[in-house]
Amino acid sequence: MNKELVIVIDFGGQYNQLVARRVRECNVYCEIYSYNTDLAKIKAMNPKGIILTGGPSSCYEEGAATCSKELFELGIPVLGLCYGAQLMMHVLGGRVERAAVREYGKTEVKVDNTSPLFSGVTENTICWMSHFDYIAKMAAGFRAVAVTDNCPVAAAECAERKLYAIQFHPEVLHTVEGSKMLYNFVRGICGCSGDWRMDSFVEEQVKAIREKVGNGRVLCALSGGVDSSVAAVLLSKAVGEQLTCVFVDHGLLRKNEGDEVEAVFGSAGSYKLNFIRVNAQERFYEKLAGVSEPERKRKIIGEEFIRVFEEEAKKIGAVDFLVQGTIYPDVVESGLGGESAVIKSHHNVGGLPDCVDFKEIIEPLRNLFKDEVRKVGLELGIPEHLVFRQPFPGPGLGIRIIGEVTAEKVKVVQDADAIYREEIANAGLAGNINQYFAALTNMRSVGVMGDERTYDYAIALRAVNTIDFMTAEAAQLPWEVLQKVTSRIINEVSHVNRVLYDVTSKPPGTIEFE
Ligand code: XMP
Repeated sequence: MNKELVIVIDFGGQYNQLVARRVRECNVYCEIYSYNTDLAKIKAMNPKGIILTGGPSSCYEEGAATCSKELFELGIPVLGLCYGAQLMMHVLGGRVERAAVREYGKTEVKVDNTSPLFSGVTENTICWMSHFDYIAKMAAGFRAVAVTDNCPVAAAECAERKLYAIQFHPEVLHTVEGSKMLYNFVRGICGCSGDWRMDSFVEEQVKAIREKVGNGRVLCALSGGVDSSVAAVLLSKAVGEQLTCVFVDHGLLRKNEGDEVEAVFGSAGSYKLNFIRVNAQERFYEKLAGVSEPERKRKIIGEEFIRVFEEEAKKIGAVDFLVQGTIYPDVVESGLGGESAVIKSHHNVGGLPDCVDFKEIIEPLRNLFKDEVRKVGLELGIPEHLVFRQPFPGPGLGIRIIGEVTAEKVKVVQDADAIYREEIANAGLAGNINQYFAALTNMRSVGVMGDERTYDYAIALRAVNTIDFMTAEAAQLPWEVLQKVTSRIINEVSHVNRVLYDVTSKPPGTIEFE
């Protein structure tokens, strides 16, 4: 791939992937590498710019993550962010010290917009600060180009050497004009033309896949989730009927989901591929009968999935390639920067490679972030309801039913969840909440309906907002919406007489229930 490249050097900051995503939003391709990556390797990649991320260390402490002075002497523009800014000063002879108080949160910053970094940025703007250490003395040749009440060097530049340092975090949305600053760096200072676009990505991938696959046979485990759907369509566009997709319906999908996936990928759909739907619902229910321990349920579902897939794969026989929907965050999290070709078993098809007879793995999305995968999906004409699907766990409703899973309980939670999703959409809230679903608690309680006493289940509604799904806040849904959903669930779903709203954040809760 002959793209302009910006390298993000990771010092362990919590926003490292966010930095990379923001750069990509400027239509500039970038990759993340660990701070201990060999300088020669970085140089060989011929980047147009380098960004140093934040990190938890203090640069003046022994053993702190660091970089060599030569990094700043390559003639390549460098932007240091937070820890990266301090490190730049420290390495080049400035002084970094611990401040008396930590500067944290939204902060007014005064920028010098004669600096190319702040070109077009409002003079008094809001930034997101999160630091204890501060730049007490700049390295020789630098001048301060931004200040806050507590921070004499909120940004600095040495224009001559194209070195820039920002103490705050332009990558987080709280920095109101942060995207503009990053754009100024990659498109202005580094001179990138913006050649990273999803339409050309599709074209290039189709070509590359065709070359690689030749006349070979390709197998893909399709879950109906965004990543595997996009990977499958990309492959089908490239090699058509040489591709076989196996879709296992484990009976733990959301209402009508199995049919929806079949409608898109099956013979009635618009893609020319071999689509196999395995209706394995009964098998899964049988295995899950009498099991209520959450980890055991997850294990059973995962193992049964592999068994079903293995049986199908055996019928197909040996294939040349197996498609995996690995995406860039998986690559980064499993050992930075593509250095280790770790094949994670994180996917809904955990452990799959071992049980299928194939020669090579194809991972067409391994350089993309989720939002880019979605753009590719739209580019490929995949229906929006699939492209913008919210995350759905591999074990499906199995972990949204507390206690034993039965076909009857699956039906209850499917119906309640469908109503909930419909009302969220009707209220125009779908785009504002990262994940929302109904779960079936194992609690039964007394109620009264008409003149009758009832003793039925309680449905729990969950809605969370989150950036990375590692932490999450319960969304504040409008009362009217909750009331409407509640009344519809009680009236339309049998065996439910109570609806609860879960306001627990993560931590201490998790997003799913089991
Ligand atoms: P938790 O419940 O751990 O969920 O807070 C965090 C995110 O991960 C999803 N999730 C899973 N996804 N297989 C998956 O593919 C799983 O076993 C699984 N468990 C949780 C969950 O939906 C949420 O988005």
